[in-house]
Amino acid sequence: MIKPKNKYHLKCRKCNHIISDFNEWFDVFQACPNCGNKWVDVEYSADYNKVKELISKSDDEVTSIFHYFDFLPLNDKQNIISAGEGRIPVENWTFLNDYFKKHYNLDLKISVYRNDLSTGTGTFKDVAAALAASVLKENGIKKYVVASTGNIASAFAYYLAKAGISLYVFIPSDALKANEAEISAYGQKVFRVNGDYAKAKKIAAEFSQKNNILISGGNIDPLRVEAKKTMVWEWLRQTGDLPDVYIQALSGGTGPIAIEKGLKDISELGITEKLSRFIMIQPDGCDPMTAGWNDAKKNNFPQGWENDYPVYENPVTLIPTLATGNPATFPIIASLVKKSKGEIISFKETEAVKLARIISFEKAVKIGPAAAIALGGLFEAAKQGLLKNGESVLVNIGESMNRAPDFINDMIYTTEEINSVEDCLPVDRENYRMKLWDDFAY
Ligand SMILES: Cc1ncc(COP(=O)(O)O)c(C=O)c1O
Ligand SMILES: [Zn+2]
Repeated sequence: MIKPKNKYHLKCRKCNHIISDFNEWFDVFQACPNCGNKWVDVEYSADYNKVKELISKSDDEVTSIFHYFDFLPLNDKQNIISAGEGRIPVENWTFLNDYFKKHYNLDLKISVYRNDLSTGTGTFKDVAAALAASVLKENGIKKYVVASTGNIASAFAYYLAKAGISLYVFIPSDALKANEAEISAYGQKVFRVNGDYAKAKKIAAEFSQKNNILISGGNIDPLRVEAKKTMVWEWLRQTGDLPDVYIQALSGGTGPIAIEKGLKDISELGITEKLSRFIMIQPDGCDPMTAGWNDAKKNNFPQGWENDYPVYENPVTLIPTLATGNPATFPIIASLVKKSKGEIISFKETEAVKLARIISFEKAVKIGPAAAIALGGLFEAAKQGLLKNGESVLVNIGESMNRAPDFINDMIYTTEEINSVEDCLPVDRENYRMKLWDDFAY
């Protein structure tokens, strides 16, 4: 009897060794048994031309990330754990076009990827968690470990709870209370580490080893990459093209890795030749990748530049969600950014609240702190002359404001304390607009 071809396999990026499926991948402790490399690609036996059909579907035909089931590493649809994540609208925000025309004389076509609307936990981590929960369930995994600055932890806590899988979460001491509460609410175990994200990752790895419990593989984990690659296909489905420029808040950097994989999967289909220019943005309170990038650029990218980056211990930042002080993925991310002719830049994090107020005023959309950094990247990029006339720019709004209660409190600026009706004068909301923009230092 001819053995049916596997739906997918994993292939080592370094030595091309084939790992037959996730069952084997987990057995070999998520590293290539031949060379020890942890970065693998998932390849599928389905005809990749089917992607063309999938990206021709209308919005109401797409129910979740599992619209792309044929190109996800799950064998049986019965194992799908989903909350409708992955159907994220790309919206044109024309008030931003007007702003950059007026202030920089640039004709830009700016759109945003509304992950604040994600139906799982309201962040762009939901797709990764949905796929991970499904694959873990399929492989009979009952316990899992993750280290996270917060949003991955919330997403994994939710989806793994839906799959009946116990999760052990390691968060740094400055992780937001709202993340901790959400993880705990789903009955998942929180270990709040007395230290930074690097220390949380270290203890999580030790806990995983000591108790022989599988641990999430971080930014290059094929489960995260395969899930997030679908965003490229969603942009193609919704807009028919890729943006000239892609802007995202950068912590560890799964986004660019996943985008490259989404393009690699369809590279033979003649759909697009484009690699969007990656403009990655870090809050200036914790921006080691920007520092490494600037240094390399200043020295004309000397040999081995990608292994030269600073490590910030216990970074103090207003945006803990993005606080990766030891950016071990810098060699991968910075190389991708360079290949895309992009940049790694920083945004003044004290401006994040002000920008979020502007967005809430102009669009009635409440974006979270990490999303404000991404949008801030648009302003910083224009200021640095990194955007060109006629370009389309897509900004990844990675999270909603619900993630950060303190940040919500910072939205209060129209309140007046009164004693009687005499104290109350009608105001036109238009009066706030100029003040909001004036307060914003860009
Ligand atoms: C909303 C949001 N945007 C961006 C990022 C950065 O993602 P990455 O770790 O892939 O750089 C995160 C990470 O937690 C996030 O939660
Ligand atoms: Zn290998």
